[in-house]
Amino acid sequence: MKIREVALQIINQVLNEGAYSNLLLNETINQNDFNQNDIGLLTELLYGTIQYKMTLDYYLSNYIGDKKVSKNIRNILRMAVYQKVYLDKIPDHAIINEAVNLTKKKYKGFVNAVLRNVMRQGIRPLTEIEDKVIRLSIETSHPLWLVKMWTKQYDFDTAKKICMINNIKPYQFARLNLFKDKKENIIKRIEELKINYHLTSIDEGIYLQNDNIANTHLYHKGYVNVQDLSSMYVSKILSPKKGERIIDVCSAPGGKSTHIAEMMGDTGEVIACDIHEHKIKLIENHSKRLGLKCIKPMLIDARKLTTKFLEESFDRVLVDAPCSGLGVIRRKPEIKYNKKPSDLDEIIKMQKEIIDEAIKLVKKGGVLVYSTCTINKKENEKMIDYILDKNQRFELNPLPFQKLNLGNEGYCQIIDQIMGADIFFIACMVKK
Ligand SMILES: C[S@@+](CC[C@H](N)C(=O)[O-])C[C@H]1O[C@@H](n2cnc3c(N)ncnc32)[C@H](O)[C@@H]1O
Repeated sequence: MKIREVALQIINQVLNEGAYSNLLLNETINQNDFNQNDIGLLTELLYGTIQYKMTLDYYLSNYIGDKKVSKNIRNILRMAVYQKVYLDKIPDHAIINEAVNLTKKKYKGFVNAVLRNVMRQGIRPLTEIEDKVIRLSIETSHPLWLVKMWTKQYDFDTAKKICMINNIKPYQFARLNLFKDKKENIIKRIEELKINYHLTSIDEGIYLQNDNIANTHLYHKGYVNVQDLSSMYVSKILSPKKGERIIDVCSAPGGKSTHIAEMMGDTGEVIACDIHEHKIKLIENHSKRLGLKCIKPMLIDARKLTTKFLEESFDRVLVDAPCSGLGVIRRKPEIKYNKKPSDLDEIIKMQKEIIDEAIKLVKKGGVLVYSTCTINKKENEKMIDYILDKNQRFELNPLPFQKLNLGNEGYCQIIDQIMGADIFFIACMVKK
């Protein structure tokens, strides 16, 4: 199958049937014998078309008007216009030919005519849109309610920054397993594999340029783990100490639990809970691969923690809550189209129920870290108000943030403070 055909198939599945772009892309790459150029083009066409869906529809609206167009044909046109507007190297005639080849006989003439008009007459300037919030929504392809929410919760410039970040190609980071070996030794092994890397603001975090470290023996033997840099900051802020008893109440696939265990030199106990049985296996596999024995995966609903654990029995409690995921839109661009405001309210209810239970497990003098990979004050800052209002014995702890240059508040909404890292929220509280 040709690359554009594969791309179209995935775009159809993601935009028309609710599939996840990142999972389908990985699956497709693993099942086929594509070369690097093919993988590059497939990734570009797939993510670009999904990422800019609304912008592309705006450009197409002049040429399609209110004609009824099937979802498949619309996606063929979107992918073609994406190549015209955002990619340099593909000549107009090639874009049109490839699009027409993807189209069933009956509609070939229509696709050909629309695209010839686009190439001849060009695209509508976005400056035609007078309202700057609507323009931002179309220009960066984010639903208007989302842009309005960020503009209201922050301001227009911050909303713009968030939308732009969401359209940037995500950085790849890896975590060195410093429990297994010294940093210089692992770095030497990475250099032997000719993998391009840069050091980061965290000792164990490296930034990778293009290379996929998860395919290497270094990954399989547990010298490295794939994890975003913001995610590493969460365990850093939790600041686990050797021999402590720690619980990560929403832990699958185990990125933070394994980091915590590494930081503790595999001493003490890390209870790694999750509500989904199939995900418990992922925590077990990662722990085994990374050579960590102090992690105890446990199938439990975090809204019922006190049915299994004694109150005030943990030194540190991590709530890496299920959330709306608005901080990882650049990795899963369909999130922005699939979420509705009512989904956000539902998730907040669940977060509160988890927090209500998790907070009871913190010892006197113990630490609670709350984190999400989203940017929505109701799930983040307001949730901290909820915790502090309800539990007078907790107070924010700014110290770990100060050490990491993340301000003095005791919480931080990471947007672009850490170069290339995902948008994330982290708060740290201590129990008096
Ligand atoms: C943000 S992810 C956790 C990521 C993980 N901490 C890591 O670093 O790899 C949230 C997790 O919460 C789990 N989850 C959702 N609802 C839950 C509940 N009620 N109790 C426990 N886990 C839950 C999901 O299955 C998901 O794996």
